[in-house]
Amino acid sequence: MNLEALEQLLQDTKANAEQAIAAADSIDALRSAESKVLKGPLADALKNIKQFDAADRGRAGQSINAAKKDVQMLFADAQTKLMSADVASERKKSADFDPTLPPPLKRRGAFHPVTAVQREVERLFRGLGFAVVGGPEMETEFYNFEALNIPEMHPARDSQDTFWLTNGWLLRTHTSPCQVRAMQRFGPPMRVIAPGRCFRYEAIDASHENTFFQLEGLLIDKDISIAHLIAFMKLLLRQVFQRDVEVRLRPGFFPFVEPGFELDMSCAICDGKGCPTCKRSGWVEILPCGMVHPNVLRHGGIDPHEYTGFAFGLGLTRLAMMKYGVGDIRILNSGDLRGIVHPDRLQGERIA
Ligand code: PHE
Repeated sequence: MNLEALEQLLQDTKANAEQAIAAADSIDALRSAESKVLKGPLADALKNIKQFDAADRGRAGQSINAAKKDVQMLFADAQTKLMSADVASERKKSADFDPTLPPPLKRRGAFHPVTAVQREVERLFRGLGFAVVGGPEMETEFYNFEALNIPEMHPARDSQDTFWLTNGWLLRTHTSPCQVRAMQRFGPPMRVIAPGRCFRYEAIDASHENTFFQLEGLLIDKDISIAHLIAFMKLLLRQVFQRDVEVRLRPGFFPFVEPGFELDMSCAICDGKGCPTCKRSGWVEILPCGMVHPNVLRHGGIDPHEYTGFAFGLGLTRLAMMKYGVGDIRILNSGDLRGIVHPDRLQGERIA
């Protein structure tokens, strides 16, 4: 394929997207149309980028990515429109509001499961000398990618499908941007955790949401080794589950740690037997971690010859699912938590 043919293909793709949007009459229809359009020739062209002359490859890649972004924006706009139309018609229905009806029963409130787990983990780490910090949900490319050793055109950027903002910023795809921010703010030695909301442009199913919570941890000091990392991770899981949890450590690739690990725990929904939440594997990825990459330390203004450290990105939402036995992540963002039994409260008492 050459650049001209590509241009045609990109135009066709956009035309397809517009047609699909015009035909879609529900959010679900929009979503499935979108993934169809994005998985089509556009994805193929990116996969087969090698078929372009070496001199054209950079430009081809850029135009494909730009077209992908355009298509995503088209769908995002269409979705917003569809949603506001829904809200307007709901409002109309409630115009015949009846003031003589008895008020709804008052119920006692409780923390959202994610908040409950977050507070518990915060309490543990505060006790271990960690500071709890925050970071912006709207991030710059620098902190979300560049400073984390993920340069432009690095394939790892694709694995974190990103909501881009029109001003060139983005919605953070993980809490890891807090790492370099914290290094710049505190300097070594340091221990911080940073819980927060993250966003990914993902199709939603029982175990994936476009909005979820992580808790980043970072410890930097002299002579920190993998043994420290593992000891902290075990302590963390034991504290949250109040028992020894079966875990396994696999090598995992994240550009900002070396070596990197994927720490899985035995799925608490099915007791490791296999269910939709753990994709029938019996294991759930819950705690990616590793030793901070020297380049990341340098970006934070720390000398990697003098200091080492570890970082982890605890999946708070997943952890809450495991702890409270929530088999479907969508429930946690639904605003209706009545089915969840809160183990911290009286036996059998519902959360809301
Ligand atoms: N930020 C990574 C992610 O969300 C997880 C991670 C954090 C991995 C810290 C290693 C160390 O995919």
